[in-house]
Amino acid sequence: MSKKIFSGVQPSGNLHLGNYLGAIKNFVELQSKKDTDCVYCIVDLHAITVKQNPKELRKNIRETLAAFIASGLDSKKSIIFNQSSVPAHSEAAWILSCVARMGWLNRMTQFKEKAGKDKEKASIGLYAYPVLMAADILLYDTSHVPVGDDQKQHLELSRDIAQRFNNDFDTKNFLKVPEPLIQKNFSRIMSLKDGTKKMSKSDPSDLSRINLMDDKDQIINKIKKAKTDTLPMPSEEENLKNRPEVKNLLEIFSSLSNQSIEKTKNEFSGKNFSIFKENLSELLVEKIAPISYEIKALLNDEKYLNEILLEGSKKANELASKKIKEMKKIIGFCE
Ligand code: AMP
Ligand code: TRP
Repeated sequence: MSKKIFSGVQPSGNLHLGNYLGAIKNFVELQSKKDTDCVYCIVDLHAITVKQNPKELRKNIRETLAAFIASGLDSKKSIIFNQSSVPAHSEAAWILSCVARMGWLNRMTQFKEKAGKDKEKASIGLYAYPVLMAADILLYDTSHVPVGDDQKQHLELSRDIAQRFNNDFDTKNFLKVPEPLIQKNFSRIMSLKDGTKKMSKSDPSDLSRINLMDDKDQIINKIKKAKTDTLPMPSEEENLKNRPEVKNLLEIFSSLSNQSIEKTKNEFSGKNFSIFKENLSELLVEKIAPISYEIKALLNDEKYLNEILLEGSKKANELASKKIKEMKKIIGFCE
């Protein structure tokens, strides 16, 4: 049986090293695997669950696409498109919102975090966000969903919604129940300024993250300023427990060089921190600076980017419109 992969990334600007190591790098590896069909979606409908400036949104959709392509996603191997160009996503989201239960959504921790203290002012879209995510996944008969571990709860909800629909309409296995694909290591890259906080595009300090559009000098400067401590590099795993910043930098090095933390630790054990930072900078510049350069080049070629989205949305539409048609028949909208 072939694997069907679906994942989505919000076009909210400032894609960073966390997005790359936690998601996009994995997307690129999956697209080259045998018997694996990949669909990658720029989820612009999800983006508008919080206020967006239309010009910025347009720019961020292009930037996310450019980051996908510059990182190695290939529109000949994967379907790459933006969510709003395939109407079935919105249609399925409505249908599934009549299947999902308030009680299930009330448990979603991301809504609680994003809505903050004043829940009454949050949009209905922000609350229903995970139902749209379920629609994304279920429309493509997805078997596996690669995401960071912050999305695990939403994926559980997608599974519940699929099962409930199949039960309610007595259509066993019509909606495929998806499995999460969460990386065991490096699933959470932390801030360069505080090793207990996730690296995030919304952190006000630009020094807290490496952006995929940073150039060589910015990368070197950020690693120089990254928080560490006065101890030498650790020799035992144990020594990392109370050193979250050091652990994070070791993880970044290991993930970028595709080697175990153990191996990285042995390589630098007992050495002066500045030597490790120099090596980490070099590695980051080698891996990220070409992506940054390529993103900027792609952004100058709007026509090419538009063509990719058009080609992707045609392919996605073909698959999704078939599934939504069947869904409508099952519900009783048509014969
Ligand atoms: P978002 O930008 O929140 O739409 O996230 C896009 C993808 O990147 C999701 O799969 C997230 O789980 C992943 N991601 C975002 N931030 C991080 C981080 N700091 N470390 C690892 N993965 C992340
Ligand atoms: N909610 C995801 C995030 O914030 C993005 C997303 C939307 C997604 N639809 C999806 C991820 C479907 C995986 C599958 O990261």
